[in-house]
Amino acid sequence: MTELPFSQSCENNKSFILDILREAFADRQEVLEIASGTGQHACHFAANMPWLRWQPTEMPEHLPLLEPRCSAYAGTNLLPPLALDVRTCPWPMAVPDALFSANSLHIMAFSAVELLFEVLARDADADTVLAVYGPFNYNGQYTSPSNASFDQWLAQRNPDSAIRDFEAVDRLAGSAGFALQGDHEMPAHNRLLVWRR
Ligand SMILES: C[S@@+](CC[C@H](N)C(=O)[O-])C[C@H]1O[C@@H](n2cnc3c(N)ncnc32)[C@H](O)[C@@H]1O
Repeated sequence: MTELPFSQSCENNKSFILDILREAFADRQEVLEIASGTGQHACHFAANMPWLRWQPTEMPEHLPLLEPRCSAYAGTNLLPPLALDVRTCPWPMAVPDALFSANSLHIMAFSAVELLFEVLARDADADTVLAVYGPFNYNGQYTSPSNASFDQWLAQRNPDSAIRDFEAVDRLAGSAGFALQGDHEMPAHNRLLVWRR
């Protein structure tokens, strides 16, 4: 059997994220995951929150990384992966009552983050829940030396990538009608932000 694409950080953070999502998504029906990567989060969260339908998505060129693990999923509540670049307007699928994304806002350009919230402003229903995991800066400061080094590494790799300011993202969320419900500390100086419309 060939090995499935694997991310160690997903293995490390998935149980901590699940603890929060169980509550945040307790009354939700379907989650659209943006930038699902290897599919480890999608499979883990779908298996552990069986009341949800989980829709993984990725940039079209990265779907081959996502599909093998999703195909191997034993349950019925993981939907087949779909292509989604958040800059596409409109998105090729409806926005369900919940969204999740991990480690994506610092990879995509800030203009893409802005477009993501523009789409949500237009197409998300009232009462939609959005949960975003990753590193954030607060008051213009890194939350750790390791995040400062990570940001330098990101900039060298792609000048459009950067750890985002919590305040800037929360402002975009607010403009799209989302109110912050929780800002949870996660291991390795990451956060899990939960907004509700
Ligand atoms: C560091 S990976 C995170 C993958 C996975 N969520 C995880 O936690 O391991 C960043 C992901 O963002 C995705 N991404 C970058 N720009 C994007 C865009 N414009 N729309 C959707 N996804 C994007 C990439 O394809 C990549 O899979």
